[in-house]
Amino acid sequence: MNNTPTRPAANAGAALNRRTFMMSTAAATAATAATATVAAAPAAAAATDATAAASAVANPYEGTSDTRVTVNGTLHALKLEPRASLLDVLREQLGLTGAKKGCDHGQCGACTVHVDGRRVASCLTLAVKTDGCAVTTIEGVEAPDGTLHPMQQSFIDHDALQCGYCTPGQVMAAIACVREGHATSDAQIREYMSGNLCRCGAYAGILEAIRDAAPKMAAEPRSRGGRHA
Ligand code: FES
Ligand code: FES
Repeated sequence: MNNTPTRPAANAGAALNRRTFMMSTAAATAATAATATVAAAPAAAAATDATAAASAVANPYEGTSDTRVTVNGTLHALKLEPRASLLDVLREQLGLTGAKKGCDHGQCGACTVHVDGRRVASCLTLAVKTDGCAVTTIEGVEAPDGTLHPMQQSFIDHDALQCGYCTPGQVMAAIACVREGHATSDAQIREYMSGNLCRCGAYAGILEAIRDAAPKMAAEPRSRGGRHA
């Protein structure tokens, strides 16, 4: 008598085991999925609540300080948080993203705009201090018909940019530099543009652009369509 299990019996056991294993695995997977689904539901709801809460959070630049400022010829009556920078208000509140946030510490010039015709680092300028002022950003220097400002055109003509991140600030500073009478020599241009850094090193082109645009600006009216500071 042979007590050795027959091969079919062994296979049957193995099949049973595999079937049992597969069934138990499937059941476990289904249970896990169900658990995950149940767990995910509150998580998703929490995420939705968080999103809703985030959108309900007050704009950090809004506050109680009344500020009436004219930006690129348009008067804005704002209620501002007293510590909000002009740069943040321009970018986040008014949607004027031309002025760039490079360092946010007054060291790079990427945020340069004009306030009552004077160039300022908008990251260091409290927005509430512009109450009653006229602010011009890079969005406001072109002519009403869309013609580029001579300085903008000159930057293009002289390839005075690479990545372009510093360019709005460079152009605003360059316009001011010429209007201040500080573009009468290469050395003077370098000196009075030294607060505007270019990580791409496009300084040679920037110098050429300003040198070329200066006489063209002199031939223009001081203000074009009231859009210039
Ligand atoms: S971002 Fe204002 S000077 Fe750099
Ligand atoms: S063009 Fe790139 S930082 Fe000036």
